[in-house]
Amino acid sequence: MSQPDNGISSVLAETRSFPPSPDFVARARLDADKLAGLHAAAATDYIGFWGDLAKKELAWQTPFRTVLDDSDAPNYRWFTDGKTNASVNCLDRHLGSRGDKIAIRFEADKGGARTFTYKQLHAAVCKLANGLKSLGVVKSDRVIVYLPHTPEAVIALLACARIGAIHSVVFGGFSASSLKDRIEDTAAKWIITADGNSRGGNVIDLKKTVDESLASGGKTVEKVVVLKHGDNAVQMSAGRDIWWHELVATQADRCEPEWVEAEHPLFLLYTSGSTGKPKGIQHSTGGYLLGAHLTCQWIFDLKEDDVFWCTADVGWITGHSYVTYGPLSNGATVMMFEGVPTYPDAGRFWKICQDHGVTIFYTAPTAIRALMKLGDDWPKKYDLSKLRMLGSVGEPINPEAWMWYHRVIGNEKLPIVDTWWQTETGAAMISPIPGAMPTKPGSCTKPLPGIFCEIVNEAGVPEKGKEAGGYLVITKPWPHMLRTIWGDNERYKKAYFGQFPQQADGGYFYVAGDGAHRDKDGYYWIMGRVDDVLNVSGHRLGTMEVESALVSHPRVAEAAVVGRPHDVKGEAICAFVILKGTRPEGAEAEKLIKELRDHVAKEIGAIAKPDDIRLADGLPKTRSGKIMRRLLRSIAKGEAITQDTSTLENPAILEQLAQTN
Ligand code: WT7
Repeated sequence: MSQPDNGISSVLAETRSFPPSPDFVARARLDADKLAGLHAAAATDYIGFWGDLAKKELAWQTPFRTVLDDSDAPNYRWFTDGKTNASVNCLDRHLGSRGDKIAIRFEADKGGARTFTYKQLHAAVCKLANGLKSLGVVKSDRVIVYLPHTPEAVIALLACARIGAIHSVVFGGFSASSLKDRIEDTAAKWIITADGNSRGGNVIDLKKTVDESLASGGKTVEKVVVLKHGDNAVQMSAGRDIWWHELVATQADRCEPEWVEAEHPLFLLYTSGSTGKPKGIQHSTGGYLLGAHLTCQWIFDLKEDDVFWCTADVGWITGHSYVTYGPLSNGATVMMFEGVPTYPDAGRFWKICQDHGVTIFYTAPTAIRALMKLGDDWPKKYDLSKLRMLGSVGEPINPEAWMWYHRVIGNEKLPIVDTWWQTETGAAMISPIPGAMPTKPGSCTKPLPGIFCEIVNEAGVPEKGKEAGGYLVITKPWPHMLRTIWGDNERYKKAYFGQFPQQADGGYFYVAGDGAHRDKDGYYWIMGRVDDVLNVSGHRLGTMEVESALVSHPRVAEAAVVGRPHDVKGEAICAFVILKGTRPEGAEAEKLIKELRDHVAKEIGAIAKPDDIRLADGLPKTRSGKIMRRLLRSIAKGEAITQDTSTLENPAILEQLAQTN
């Protein structure tokens, strides 16, 4: 198995283990016995297990009779004959008991807070839903959401859900070109955006990016709804652009929900794969909602008076499941923050925790590592006593960062849940249950109830025995799994279920794309991607995407991109670039490298800017012309080449590449 050594292998030597405090256990929704009960129920009757939970936890307009339809596997369908609506689950069902409870607490980048109660959120969602209807949006239409991380993003998602439209959020950091690709793939006729936003004090002109993307394509778009948020002077295109506040001004604050089949697509969210083209991951309404809802209860021990802060942007799956659908369907209070952890200073996250009384804090290892580097004094300035548990998501967390989180933020007593999952899985899959089991620094512990994982070898055969290493697969379908890749069901089957043969029982193994180890206690340790996908600061990027962006520059003949370990970002992007014509040196080379980095930012977004660009005369290739990436990975890390290079066509190039830095 070609597994990137991202430095995480040291976790396998990790022996520390931290049980939850008796205090936490005493109040936890799930203790060890209750968790064992759930696992036992799922093991004996897996269909009944999910069916009972779906009935009990979600509000259905028409109850379902079929729990799982696997007649067209691996296109699985859950709760097919039931009808529901995600916005009703997140809003209407709380109006009686929690109408005046705060649903969202928001803090802007430059300070200033706003809140929405459940009643207010419901009214705002209904108004926008009516506004969208007035623009012609109907069930199954795709609506692109390109907004900053503000309450309006949540409102936009729920307004789409209310009328059965399919939202597709594009993260505000993506470029005009990425936005255009997503508009074209979804054939959306509507975009919801803003006049701009502020991150770390910098103004980001989202509307301008929308205009650029529509100037170059995206011809399906008819209307652009613009939220006034950034105080930017924007150009409104007559007949096409309409202000959000004007659109909703005359709309009623009630809107009858569109009852949709459980399988009705709730959203599309694009993510990177191992080819150049991002995949539109399609999630369902019923199954997805169940996963987001239940995992909030199980892994975050969510209770009525919690203030739940997941720091992810709504542009990512984490922002869908743990800022929007999961906490709101549980009637929780959600914290939202528009900005970055280090603005105006490195105490910002901790000040927000203090000022808003955050009780559950969920962030990415990259943020933990960045804040750890800035020292213990920042968190110590603030009162973090309301915090009762911590979470981590998005990439492997190294034990050092885990221990800092535990010691400095958790005061050595708060449980930490390291949650493993993916855009495709919809909700957390492998995670501690905080009141029910000890945690180990760097391990996401065990699969959740109803989720069945194995570690398999190259041939797809599960490793027997607890201790094992290999590919992580999920052996049974689960309600919140992706349903397909928008417009490309063949790719769905091939990318996720095609690697290993169909099983004797007719089922398929879902291949996660991650390598993993399982220790003697049955705990999982995720080792990182085994495909050509990078994880840079918790953001997923395909090496081929970055390569295509590079070769679209007129000076570039060929490019190969690999990851190398980075102590804050997890992985850094290293690109080897072969130019057309002569290779410049010195200041001229520097200038071109900067130009290439900016070019990638323009093609994909700033998150994809290569950290290193190495100009060279050739790439290490086999005689059949295949680039030997593992050699490039060693070179990127500055390691001596120890691998077998006898199949290389041009071994001399290695020496040159090693000197390019
Ligand atoms: C990939 C999925 C989960 C939502 C955010 C990322 C990596 C995710 C962990 C974790 C180790 C993790 C995996 C996975 N990953 N969580 N707790 N420990 N690795 O979603 O962008 O779809 O990326 O992120 O490599 O495959 P995504």
